[in-house]
Amino acid sequence: MSLIRKAVFPVGGLGTRFLPATKAIPKEMLPVVDKPLMQYAVEEAYAAGIREMIFVTGRNKRAIEDHFDTAYELESELEAAGKSALLALVNAIKPDDMDCFYVRQPRALGLGHAVLCAEKLVGDEPFAVLLADDLMVGLEAHGGPSVLAQMVGAYIESPGSILAVQDVPRADTRRYGVVDVHGVNQPLAEVFAMVEKPDPLSAPSTLAVAGRYILSPAVFKSIRQQPRGAGGEIQLTDGIAAMLGNEKVYAMRYKGRRYDCGSKEGFLQATIDLALANTELASAVRSHIQALGL
Ligand code: G1P
Repeated sequence: MSLIRKAVFPVGGLGTRFLPATKAIPKEMLPVVDKPLMQYAVEEAYAAGIREMIFVTGRNKRAIEDHFDTAYELESELEAAGKSALLALVNAIKPDDMDCFYVRQPRALGLGHAVLCAEKLVGDEPFAVLLADDLMVGLEAHGGPSVLAQMVGAYIESPGSILAVQDVPRADTRRYGVVDVHGVNQPLAEVFAMVEKPDPLSAPSTLAVAGRYILSPAVFKSIRQQPRGAGGEIQLTDGIAAMLGNEKVYAMRYKGRRYDCGSKEGFLQATIDLALANTELASAVRSHIQALGL
């Protein structure tokens, strides 16, 4: 059994960057090739040994609950039609040993606030947070660990909070939580400062947090003590930053690739790369791209 048993998925955001697509459906349900972003994140958590999935939802997010629920009509029709491969695909969305829990975030007050909404369901144990619009491709294609599984591995060696990080261009620091660490080239480095969306001129480094965290339950109390931060929101980064000094927080350079599927550019890159990695689609997609003669 995994030491990290629970994953929190904050999915209460409005998805304004993807309007009009996200007017009636949650941004986390946008599909990359044939799977919604939400399912990629849940599969990553499952592959890391996590079996309790906690969704912090909001208005307009029912499609997420439906996706991980039984679809009785669909399933019985597929069964009656003998479409067993499709039925297996549908049944695999929620394996029997996985449990889903839902809690509503009544107002979109920020990522820290969303995580706080999960406090009672998480309780007093370390937990993971996954932001579904960061689609992470770890080493799965080569039989290796997903990004979150790499983090759980690091946690076993060095218990504490662990943040997935990557280098970004300095001009982009204002899009991320940015950390300052001891031993910047280490795969796992201790964090001593952290700031949300810093100006490139004042950013402490160019090491940015990707949307994967393992957090100590101490973070709940810490978030609760924070005033509103960047963008007027209750920031997870501020809650983590306030724990520094009392709790070990590590930055882990993950092995893999992050697609920022909260942006159209990242979403399209993910779609192209994952289509090219899909055995059924690869050759048709490659021919199409070649025919464009770019
Ligand atoms: C959130 C976090 C930020 C992190 C980013 C990763 O920002 O607040 O610290 O670096 O996710 O995607 P958002 O993208 O929600 O503005």
